[in-house]
Amino acid sequence: MTSSNDGKISELKKIIATSDKIVAFTGAGFSAESGISTFRGAGGLWSRYDPNIYANINIFMQDSSYYWNFFKDERYPVIKKAKPNDGHYVLVELEKLGKLYRVITQNIDGLHQVAGQSDVIELHGNTRKIYCLNCEKTYNLDETYKLLQKELPPKCSCGGNLKPGTILFGEPLPQAALEMARIAAQNCDLFLVLGSSLVVYPAASMPRIAKNNGATLVIINIDPTPMDEIADLVINNSASKILSTVIKRG
Ligand code: APR
Repeated sequence: MTSSNDGKISELKKIIATSDKIVAFTGAGFSAESGISTFRGAGGLWSRYDPNIYANINIFMQDSSYYWNFFKDERYPVIKKAKPNDGHYVLVELEKLGKLYRVITQNIDGLHQVAGQSDVIELHGNTRKIYCLNCEKTYNLDETYKLLQKELPPKCSCGGNLKPGTILFGEPLPQAALEMARIAAQNCDLFLVLGSSLVVYPAASMPRIAKNNGATLVIINIDPTPMDEIADLVINNSASKILSTVIKRG
């Protein structure tokens, strides 16, 4: 690691040592090392699947076969195989140390919970939770994939249409999660952005809410973000590697 990185690492160590109400705000970059594509940038998911077709609520309600083909060919196999990475386990460690106040995630992979994290605020839903639009019966990944072998779009046992538990573009975010995230951002002493381009709202409004309420803002992201200018510390590197360097797992 280059010297400037060493300086930033020791600065991050100091900031974490003096913080005890930390919010971790994760994006697709945090799950990249679990084998899940990010959305934007080179090789991002949206360069292979047009989100206006494959992840849009209006298209979904007209013809959900686009989404379900995307689920069958991409979402299911990738999420099914994915395992939490070191970064996920370091956050669990931070929780055990009593320093982690909340995890706010834009990710829909459920890997924080698989790693043993409690108190995860999911702003964009969870792809492992599928439900019937008619009777609200819920299905998990495997049950849904099995139904898809029989017919696409998949049908509930009541005959109703199934919908993924993920928030599609054009859909409002779950209000309770949004409100909990805002409260967490307003009441933390360190807001740690981990692997997000910070371009999708209202999620991307959280770092500024935290900053405006006196929190220290740290961004660990490979590429620059529009929030770097208001951040106290920016580290353009792997979130999992940096966290594992700064916080040792028990
Ligand atoms: N460590 C840190 N940062 C990383 C890593 C890594 N290992 N790998 C990639 N990144 C960074 C990239 O530089 C990029 O800026 O992660 C960022 C991921 O950005 P996006 O793909 O835009 O993902 P995200 O910010 O989570 O997107 C927000 O957009 O498409 C919607 O609903 C979807 O929740 C998603 C939202």
